[in-house]
Parts: sequence; structure tokens; C-alpha cells
Amino acid sequence: MSTQTALLKVMSDAARKAARGLNRDFGELLELQVSKKGAADFVSAADLKAEQTIFEMLSKARPGYSFLGEERGLIEGTDKTHTWIVDPLDGTTNFLHAIPHFAINIALQREGAIVAAVTYNPVTNELFWAEKGKGCFVNDKRLRVAARQHLAESVLATGIPFLGHGQHATFLKELHQISQRVAGVRRFGAAALDLAFVAAGRFDGYWERDLKPWDLAAGLLLVSEAGGKVTTVEGGDDILTAGSICAANLELHPLIRQRLAAAA
Ligand code: IPD
Ligand code: CA
Ligand code: CA
Repeated sequence: MSTQTALLKVMSDAARKAARGLNRDFGELLELQVSKKGAADFVSAADLKAEQTIFEMLSKARPGYSFLGEERGLIEGTDKTHTWIVDPLDGTTNFLHAIPHFAINIALQREGAIVAAVTYNPVTNELFWAEKGKGCFVNDKRLRVAARQHLAESVLATGIPFLGHGQHATFLKELHQISQRVAGVRRFGAAALDLAFVAAGRFDGYWERDLKPWDLAAGLLLVSEAGGKVTTVEGGDDILTAGSICAANLELHPLIRQRLAAAA
């Protein structure tokens, strides 16, 4: 059954409304001959606008909930048991470079657990969504993680560290352990969509370090509701605080973790 609850509808409406602005801005960015610096400013304004739209819609629908957004940080509400965790634009570097692969990420945390998630790709109009215990969907289609059981036939996604981020040497060791054993490794540049693609069985697995709660909160529920396993790279449950993730189906997850551990 793919009928969204009132909660999921609120989250989806907020994502779609913010997406209309981002789509307009993306189109404009393609038209504008903006300088490198000008483009960066333009994109950060697009980012802020999208977060403002989401903040307004969510606070109107659920007054009192706390809000953790990439742009605004934590805004504590009167209800501290509920926190929205929002990345208004995941894949900013893609957006800035006119690469059509980015998403809006909205999750709801209740007493420490992620209970609802929306990841929306405005370019493909794919809305990935899940609610705890109720399965994972893209638009109105139910999703399951891939069934592949061997690394040799798997395509894994990852994130490559970049300027201003550490752990470059660790990444190269991990890649060396993984790349020689799999059918392919991809770096598409939007953590939210990497996780949504694992939930959809497009990627067989995904690992990345040095991420923030808003990159991960929605996707970890998408993957687990699609029947997959999500832990930190080290195998722990504290994904949002550790900022690392390893996601895959139940068979591949330990195999990927084993290779990552061998890199340590
Ligand atoms: C980034 C993307 C990217 C990941 C980065 C994130 P942003 O988020 O998810 O895939 O590798 O570490 O910061 O900055 O585009 O919202
Ligand atoms: Ca992000
Ligand atoms: Ca972002």
C-alpha cells in the first residue's frame, strides 16, 4: 500500500515546494553566465531559500517541533522529542556545476530514532519516502534493496574526500580493498541519493565517511525500510553522531565491512 500518512504528506509537500524554487534556480544557473564566485553566491542563496521554505511549511504543520537544518543549525522548539533534520540541497557541488543530480532531504527524528524520511530528486521527479515499520517507496512503487549476494557482481557507491576534508589516505586504502573485488564503484556526489539508490536496488551498497546528520538521516530509514542494513563503517549504530555509513543488503553488508576493516 502506497498511501502516504498525513505526516509523510506534510514532508513531501515541503520537499516539492522547495524543489520548485531549486528547479527554477537550476534553470536560471544554466542560462546565466555567472562567474565562478557569482555562481557560488547564487547557489548558496538558492540553498537558503529552499531551507526557509521547508522550515516554514514544517513549522506551520507541526508547531513546536525542533529543527536541525544545514543552513540554520539547531532551532530548539517547545517539543524536544521531535526534530526535523533537513538538507535543503544535497549535491551542492553538482548543482553549482550544472550536473543534474541533487536532492532535498527531510527526516523526522522522534526520541532519537528516525521515524519518517523523504528524499526528493526534482530533476527526475522521484520522491523516495519511508515511515518506520511501513516500508519504503519511490512515488507509488514499493522498493526493496538489491538481491545480489556476491561482491563480484555488485556496484557500490561512495564519496571521495575533497578539499577541506580529511581521511584522504584512509579512503584510498578502502577503495583499494573494494575496487578490485566489485563490478564497479560510483561517486555521484549526493549522499542522500546514494542511500535512496541503495534502497531502490540500483546500488548494491554504499559507504562514506565524514558526513553530517542531514546527509544521512532520511536515507538510513529508506534503506532499512527497504530491507537493507545500515551501520557506521565500523559496524556501530551511532550513524548520525559518527558521520560514517555502510549500507547494503544483509548478505553484502558484512562482506563490505570486512573489506573496509581490512583497510584500517
Ligand atoms: C555533500 C554530498 C556529497 C558528500 C559530501 C556532502 P552537500 O553534501 O552529500 O555526496 O560526499 O560530503 O557534504 O554539501 O552537497 O549538501
Ligand atoms: Ca549534504
Ligand atoms: Ca546541502
